[in-house]
Amino acid sequence: MNVIIVKNKDEGVKKASSIISKEIKNNPKLVLGLATGSTMIPLYTELRGRNLDFSNVTTINLDEYLGLKENDKNSYHYFMKKYFFNYININKKNIFFPNPQIKKLPKINLQVLGIGVNGHIGFNEPGSKINSKLRKVKLSENTRRINSRFFGLLEKVPKYAYTLGIKEIMQSNKIILLAFGRNKSEVIRKTVKDKISNEVPASLLRKHKNVTLIIDKSAARKLK
Ligand code: GLP
Repeated sequence: MNVIIVKNKDEGVKKASSIISKEIKNNPKLVLGLATGSTMIPLYTELRGRNLDFSNVTTINLDEYLGLKENDKNSYHYFMKKYFFNYININKKNIFFPNPQIKKLPKINLQVLGIGVNGHIGFNEPGSKINSKLRKVKLSENTRRINSRFFGLLEKVPKYAYTLGIKEIMQSNKIILLAFGRNKSEVIRKTVKDKISNEVPASLLRKHKNVTLIIDKSAARKLK
């Protein structure tokens, strides 16, 4: 695991954007795994400004809530359009979201990840196995509580979601994980320093050969 500690979120987002831009320029048909969450918003803003050609790029989102319509303001379909897809020249037929009906997803070349405070990646909650695949998952109460900030009321947060499994994430050639802020420092410590365990799904990434963690000083404060 290659750990890059940057001054602040701004610098982290620029670093991640540069990696992504370079990959797209090297391979215009890149298959890019994408994440949602507040960490990703400045990244998508930065990428939009880089004038990249997405016409042959394929994107695969990590996860989506079950039971929300695509145009629901809290769906990840909506999030992706609002912050990214509406601004780039991606071909709609090259946009994928997990759904168990999909028989075969293209293999991901570069996967972008955020991390939940409980160590989840995508919606692979604590307890997810390294060989878990695309599936329906039950969200932990902790995740529902944290994500209720977007929904207003806890009862409105779906109880289930679809997520790519750890297996599909690990099959990506390259992975970058972004985490900023003090509230991520404990989970970053567990991810990097504690023993590799299903209980902290992000720690499983240490078994991958090409993972770059981009974290700011606040998220890195427990690493010393
Ligand atoms: C959600 C998403 C994850 C994301 C996580 C962190 O639950 N399903 O893919 O990494 O939240 O979100 P944030 O960046 O808002 O902290």
